[in-house]
Amino acid sequence: MSLHGRDVISIRDLSREEIESLLDAGRKMIPFAEGTKVTRPLENKIVAMAFFEPSTRTRLSFESAVQRLGGSCLTIADAGATSMRKGESLYDTIRMLSSYADAIVIRHPNEGSARLAARASDRPVLNAGDGAGQHPTQTLLDLATMREAFGTLTGLRVVLLGDLKYGRTVHSLAYALALFGSEIVLSSPEGLRFPDERRVELKQLGARLTDQPDVHQAVRDADVLYVTRIQKERFGDEAEYRKVAGSYRIDAAVLARAKSRLIVMHPLPRAGEIAPEVDRTPHAAYFRQAFLAVPVRMALLNAVLGPAKRGG
Ligand code: NCD
Repeated sequence: MSLHGRDVISIRDLSREEIESLLDAGRKMIPFAEGTKVTRPLENKIVAMAFFEPSTRTRLSFESAVQRLGGSCLTIADAGATSMRKGESLYDTIRMLSSYADAIVIRHPNEGSARLAARASDRPVLNAGDGAGQHPTQTLLDLATMREAFGTLTGLRVVLLGDLKYGRTVHSLAYALALFGSEIVLSSPEGLRFPDERRVELKQLGARLTDQPDVHQAVRDADVLYVTRIQKERFGDEAEYRKVAGSYRIDAAVLARAKSRLIVMHPLPRAGEIAPEVDRTPHAAYFRQAFLAVPVRMALLNAVLGPAKRGG
């Protein structure tokens, strides 16, 4: 099935074949993302960035991707500057935006908000993070990073470390890892465990899932260590946050036991979970990961909004 005109709200909206073809297309976009080659399939297309939560990489890499494809952007970077401040609903805001743009990229603090936006919009909607829900385009670039490092997404042992309760990046990524047949090791402080209902869904997909709260043990046989930030903004009360703050940190000593090929990933921003000394080791993959956001998002935007492929 073609991706043309489709919404991408959850990573589960994409089949394994669709993900693979996006990753292939993303790899071919690298020289265009770097600006050494030029392509303009989104000429005359406008993409709205509706960001109701802070963002650096996601919004700017989406904007860079649109512009590298010859399109242009309309951007809401601050909800306080819109009529939502006057009480306008998300539904109305998105409905109106869909008459100003050809596609909408949305980030919003409420889980389910991107689905709601998709109902309000008659243009494709791409979810750039809905609360603790999903972050499917991050998963695409995470997979691109792993595939670039290992040449495959199957049979890897991937440790998901940190805030597995509220972290939307790991919620999306875990589904994709299950789909590709990689092993998932869950490593989190007790209060931030991966939610039970998501475990059930993953098991139904045939996921190989284990828990290893001890990060030293978890790192030992890992191919990928995917570190996340504690999602402070999603905590109900400050005391709950203080119980887990600073409870894990990756530094050279932790990595001393790792496989030489282990890559350390992080969706960023980091807030102390990875010591800067790790940046100088061959394990550090997070800045490459941040760059791959551009070619991967270019591939997705081109598939959803570019010239329709015949018979696709
Ligand atoms: C993540 C997010 O917003 O979910 N950031 C990102 O998109 N690269 C991770 C985070 O904020 O911790």
